[in-house]
Amino acid sequence: MNITENIKYIGVNDKTIDLFEGQYEVPNGVSYNSYMIVDQKIAVMDTVDVRKTEEWLDNVEIALCGRVPDYLVVSHMEPDHSASLKAFMQKYPSATIVGNEKTFNIAERFFGDIFKNKHVVKDGDELVLGAHTLKFVFAPMVHWPEVMFSYELSEKVLFSADAFGKFGALDCDEDWTCEARRYYFNIVGKYGATVQSVLKKAAALDIKIVCPLHGPVLSENLDYYIGKYNVWSSYLPEDKGVTVAYASIYGNTKTAAEKLAVELENKGVKVSLFDLARCDLAEAVEDAFRYDKLVLASITYDGGIMPVMEDFINHLKIKNYQNRTVAFMENGSWAPMSGKLMRASFEAMKNITFAESVVTVKSAVEAQAEQQITALATELSK
Ligand SMILES: Cc1cc2nc3c(=O)[nH]c(=O)nc-3n(C[C@H](O)[C@H](O)[C@H](O)COP(=O)(O)O)c2cc1C
Ligand SMILES: [Fe+2]
Ligand SMILES: [Fe+2]
Repeated sequence: MNITENIKYIGVNDKTIDLFEGQYEVPNGVSYNSYMIVDQKIAVMDTVDVRKTEEWLDNVEIALCGRVPDYLVVSHMEPDHSASLKAFMQKYPSATIVGNEKTFNIAERFFGDIFKNKHVVKDGDELVLGAHTLKFVFAPMVHWPEVMFSYELSEKVLFSADAFGKFGALDCDEDWTCEARRYYFNIVGKYGATVQSVLKKAAALDIKIVCPLHGPVLSENLDYYIGKYNVWSSYLPEDKGVTVAYASIYGNTKTAAEKLAVELENKGVKVSLFDLARCDLAEAVEDAFRYDKLVLASITYDGGIMPVMEDFINHLKIKNYQNRTVAFMENGSWAPMSGKLMRASFEAMKNITFAESVVTVKSAVEAQAEQQITALATELSK
């Protein structure tokens, strides 16, 4: 597959992986992208996960058309992109491995002291391949310390590492935004500030094509994708709406959460409802960031909150959740205190506005709780 006349796609699809990065459901698989720039010198851009080494090496060989690669550029040392490094070096011992100081520090931790034939680059350095020239744009902590983008000057192609990546194999037909957003907030989310810095660097480049390490190559409407990354990395809500996430055992807290959802929808508010024990937690994290308001409903559980709710709140905390309005619905048969406990976790987060209305259920939803639900729906719909 050709991206341009001289830039070829040599990546692979993985549709058999059960969980990406050990925790993310990927119903449509994932792609590990790799590219080849063919010029007087040939540069291979990144390798792939160990699950697909052989298939990738075949792709490399076919694309080489009998030639030998001069360079392998390593933009990211996470093993979904670097695990086939050693196999590549064994097959093409004359190729020079291109990375920065941090790339090789990490690479040696994975592979030992095998990098004799290496070219260490600094931020802004250029590598001439012939008519093509790669300029290295460091993107530290997007989302590992060694990450660097490569910008090809003649064809204006940005090799963007994990940035602009999405879940889903390349042959699946699905919306970019939903799966790119789930990828972004769960994998990169903590590093909004560093994404903002690299977006500023990228703004100085004239970009025609973006080649990420996962998901489709982007060549149209680039302002749309860059705009999304700008909103996501600044932690601003993307859409108006309420994410309602509940943790319930016998169904009463669930009933309360569903009643709230119906009342909100009746007022024209967009609602995204999650049963935290059964949903894909990564989807709930995604929507918590997408919308401007969040409602958490949990039973009181052994004097605390239900473990799935604790887990969810912890995910939000790790990913730097901020700038949202948050409300609570609690339940408990003898001493309901989950509302107070959930609130305490959010007090340490930046710029959280707490709704005044709190819903307290004392086992089953009765008249007083119903009034509180209505009051909360009214407050959140304003
Ligand atoms: C394992 C377990 C621990 C619980 N711990 C508490 C508690 O510490 N305080 C309390 O008031 N209720 C506690 N409860 C009771 C539930 O919070 C209460 O019955 C609630 O109404 C259940 O809501 P649900 O119908 O949504 O599951 C506990 C229930 C279970 C099963
Ligand atoms: Fe990564
Ligand atoms: Fe990746």
